[in-house]
Amino acid sequence: MIFAANFKMNHTRASTAAYLDRLEAILKAAEYPFKVMVFPPATALQPSREWITVGVQNAYPAESGAYTGEIGLSQLAEFGIDTVLVGHSERRNLLGESQEFIAEKFGYFADKGLQIVYCVGEPLEVRESGFEAVAEYLWEQFDGIDLDYERLIVAYEPVWAIGTGRAASVEEIAATHAELRRRIGRPLLYGGSVKPSNIAEIGAVTDVDGVLVGSASLDPESFHAMMIAMAPPQV
Ligand code: PGA
Repeated sequence: MIFAANFKMNHTRASTAAYLDRLEAILKAAEYPFKVMVFPPATALQPSREWITVGVQNAYPAESGAYTGEIGLSQLAEFGIDTVLVGHSERRNLLGESQEFIAEKFGYFADKGLQIVYCVGEPLEVRESGFEAVAEYLWEQFDGIDLDYERLIVAYEPVWAIGTGRAASVEEIAATHAELRRRIGRPLLYGGSVKPSNIAEIGAVTDVDGVLVGSASLDPESFHAMMIAMAPPQV
């Protein structure tokens, strides 16, 4: 099971370091059989820990160059960053990233051998149009993406479930992941209002190999509570 924390534009350099120290202590003591990833803001990047992979939320598909406001491979290399989030709905919708540009990023970072957490997800009006519309919408978000890339992890995050407190239902997640599983052999994460109170039912869904968590990951104790729910301590 994969637990990924997406801080978005939360936490500072100092609070990220304190978070990682705390989470590392928790993971060391518990020895969970989980793969744990944390995506802090770019200003708070630092090398991965023994138990925690630190990844970047976004990067530009170039080594370096005249791309004002962006960071590229040489900036990531300074921290040994080897994992990148690509295609998050906030970048697609708020920052206007097109499928073409997202596919260009994917191709670039895949070519460089990075681990890619690739996000897809439909807006509410598509979900309300029925499952066929959802499937069609999601597969379009894979245009130009190599589904066989060996370091690919896919995160299904319905836009209407992100940050709303309303996660998709177990049935919706099961059907959507089954659809993705038809063509994707790599790990499938679910994201969108995952929290300590719903992790157990979401984590138990067939073809859910992990979760991508925003708000409920910001406090290490809350992130830990989700791990406990998936692996109750043996007594
Ligand atoms: P959320 O965000 O857990 O706050 O809904 C998830 C995400 O966008 O990755």
